[in-house]
Amino acid sequence: MEGQTDLSTEIAGIELANPLMLASGIMDETGHSMANAVRHGAGSVVTKSLSMEPREGHPNPVVYEMDIGMINAMGLPNPGVEAYAEEISSFRKKAGDTPIFASIFGSSIDEYAHAASKAEQLGVDGIEINGSCPNAKGLGLQFGQSPGVIGDLVSAVRSAVTIPVLFKLTPVTDDIVKLALAAQEGGAHALVAINTMKVIKLDIRTKRPILTNGFGGLSGPALKPIGVRCVYEICSDERMEIPVIGVGGISTAEDAIEYMMAGASAVQIGTAVRWQGPSVFEEINEGISSFMEEMGYSSIKELIGAALEDGE
Ligand SMILES: Cc1cc2nc3c(=O)[nH]c(=O)nc-3n(C[C@H](O)[C@H](O)[C@H](O)COP(=O)(O)O)c2cc1C
Repeated sequence: MEGQTDLSTEIAGIELANPLMLASGIMDETGHSMANAVRHGAGSVVTKSLSMEPREGHPNPVVYEMDIGMINAMGLPNPGVEAYAEEISSFRKKAGDTPIFASIFGSSIDEYAHAASKAEQLGVDGIEINGSCPNAKGLGLQFGQSPGVIGDLVSAVRSAVTIPVLFKLTPVTDDIVKLALAAQEGGAHALVAINTMKVIKLDIRTKRPILTNGFGGLSGPALKPIGVRCVYEICSDERMEIPVIGVGGISTAEDAIEYMMAGASAVQIGTAVRWQGPSVFEEINEGISSFMEEMGYSSIKELIGAALEDGE
């Protein structure tokens, strides 16, 4: 509780003290950095995306910064899920039982399932399936753009673990509702919308892409209207039964509230944490509480879906 306002929410049976989550891939390299996000107000965290085997990622340059957002093509660098055990236990020592979700990926459905099972053994509270990375060939988008593949992937991961399974959607599709429904049918407990948008930045002097990978993923303020639209479309569909976590371009309380009114039960924050530091969580929680007091809301749950046709 923050003053008279109750910021607590729930995802797949997991209680969150507030709706703000650290997004995968930003300041989540160590247990210490994830616990620091919690110390500054994050209600839960997501690990960087982890695979069975370690990966180096792409060579530099991997990031292009702009005022309206950033483009990254990190290439999913990670030490491998088993080597990450130390980070999970250091997070637990510092952040207690604050929920932590392991983001996982692989080059086959079996690898995804295997990585999820290993992550569960490390003691995480839930799995986030990354089927939506636009910058690592063979390791992301091709698992997240076909409803049939999404259904098979989610159900394989569901069978491999006993903890809740979230599926992270790509905006690189002509029908995000179809992808969301496929994940739900496969057994996902919740959805995360959205990952970065596939884009490219060219150097007009060399006539080549600036990032070594060529394509990259757009995040930050420019992504926000796309993310809100995706959440709104998914949550407006009467067949949707599972909660949605909104992500993309959130840097203020207004942004987080907009996502929640579009139907999100919680939100993740990435680029704004990188740009402003983890204190952005405190600022957004305070801003949400002030808005709720001003507008007469007592529980944040009253905001969820308030802008939808059948909302309050
Ligand atoms: C540098 C960077 C690295 C990222 N790495 C991952 C990742 O490993 N796995 C993943 O699912 N998403 C990753 N993302 C995507 C974010 O989790 C998030 O979906 C996206 O950036 C939109 O949110 P934002 O605008 O708040 O950053 C990454 C984003 C950035 C900027």
